[in-house]
Amino acid sequence: MIMPAAGSGQRFGSQSNKLFAILDGKPLWQHTVDRFQHRGDVRQIVLAVSEEDESTFREQIAAISSAAPIHLVRGGATRSESVGAALDAVKKFAAESTVANASAQTLVAIHDAARPLVRQADLDRVFAKAAETGAAILAAPVSGTLKRTTGNGSETVDRRNAFVALTPQVFAIDVICQAYARDRGRLATDDAQLVERTSHPVLLVPGSADNLKITFPEDLRIAEAILNECRS
Ligand code: CTP
Ligand code: MG
Repeated sequence: MIMPAAGSGQRFGSQSNKLFAILDGKPLWQHTVDRFQHRGDVRQIVLAVSEEDESTFREQIAAISSAAPIHLVRGGATRSESVGAALDAVKKFAAESTVANASAQTLVAIHDAARPLVRQADLDRVFAKAAETGAAILAAPVSGTLKRTTGNGSETVDRRNAFVALTPQVFAIDVICQAYARDRGRLATDDAQLVERTSHPVLLVPGSADNLKITFPEDLRIAEAILNECRS
């Protein structure tokens, strides 16, 4: 699986990458890795990191144990570039898949390092659907009323078919490689956009809203609260 971790966390506003912020006693990124590393279907974890953060990641990785091996690659200036770099590494693992299932189809799961709370049941479902269809992502139904600006005001968007894209986004290796080969460098805020452009359908798998992306400092407090609740 691929974990883009090469951002700088500008909106979080700390001096170092938000992924090093401590959540429940350990760095945020380690929680994310822990959600995947024990799964029998995750063979490799490829972490895309920035030049600046590489030595810190190396030190922290050396201090933990992970059932699935963790590889580091150099990320890029945008999230898509970081995923593209990790995908090159995944291709090199070629015959060995990053995620494999019973039918031996190789799947690549891409998950933001900044989403430490993804649930195992959601992973089970999105992996299974991706194995069936070649492209499936977790997505949360929009709960509020959705608006869009118009020339002189706003209008309401029908929310019945509206979802917020989450991660992981899981693809057959050929599907995601083809999408990146076609559209690499295009600005995309998620990977499914690139697959949609190849006209391969992307299935939305409803996922828990707990799977928040740590973006602002208050998100870390919400994540602490969710972890505490899970323990009680
Ligand atoms: N990411 C990446 N390479 C980039 C930018 C982002 O690998 N050039 C990763 C981040 O590390 C994060 C995920 O993509 O795990 C989602 O990005 P986001 O939440 O936007 O994180 P940052 O880009 O670090 O935060 P900000 O946009 O506030 O600077
Ligand atoms: Mg960003």
